[in-house]
Amino acid sequence: MNLEKRKVVIAGNWKMNKNLEETKSLLDEMVNAVPSDTKATVLLCVPAINIAAAVECVKGSNINIGAQNVHFEKSGAFTGEISTDMLKSYDVKYSIIGHSERRQYFGETDETVNKRAKACLDADICPIICVGENLEERESDITANVIKNQIEKDLAGFTAEEISRTIIAYEPIWAIGTGKTATARQAQEVCRFIRDTIAGLCNRETAESVTIQYGGSMNAKNAAELLSMPDIDGGLIGGASLKSADFRTIVSCVK
Ligand code: 13P
Repeated sequence: MNLEKRKVVIAGNWKMNKNLEETKSLLDEMVNAVPSDTKATVLLCVPAINIAAAVECVKGSNINIGAQNVHFEKSGAFTGEISTDMLKSYDVKYSIIGHSERRQYFGETDETVNKRAKACLDADICPIICVGENLEERESDITANVIKNQIEKDLAGFTAEEISRTIIAYEPIWAIGTGKTATARQAQEVCRFIRDTIAGLCNRETAESVTIQYGGSMNAKNAAELLSMPDIDGGLIGGASLKSADFRTIVSCVK
């Protein structure tokens, strides 16, 4: 991380976990656990149905509530989807976009990721755009190509100013929920490569200002090392964001 240059964002992705009561109870724990003087921007992305309650629970704390997805159209016949306007009515300022689970199970493509991210920017919501290679791609040594292709397509048509308002999450698919973390060196290498790719799309100054997170089995034990890398500006955390003590430890690595 480099707190002088960039915002460091520690974000939890709760995925499809926690009903209403469980959400309230875990958020109460989180409000007490997360240090109030942290230099990190702290964010928890909860299932859409629990956003309203979650926003109430964290009021007055330094925890932000984010969404896990949002549609690109403003309104209309899109059963099951939510709009940026709906998020804005709860003052939600962040949404994960293009998580690999959405790409894998729900037909999300780079084109729809691009549209969803653009809709977020237009609504002044920060999109956390997820990219990452699968195991076969890593083993075939084509990680760089895969990442470059995703970044170029996901950010296609964005101005430098718009790119500066995005967050990129590098989440190698083979590391998600597997307990198999990328080494700090592997993660740093790809996060640096993402920054260089962004510089190619707009300019170096903008690229240096973009927050790039690592995600994939980040936990209380490995977070300090990952976050000590110069181009890793935070984490997108699944499993460990469902345990307040572990999440607090990760947030506490930001100094
Ligand atoms: P895990 O931290 O459980 O591996 O999940 C990572 C992730 O997918 C966050 O978006």
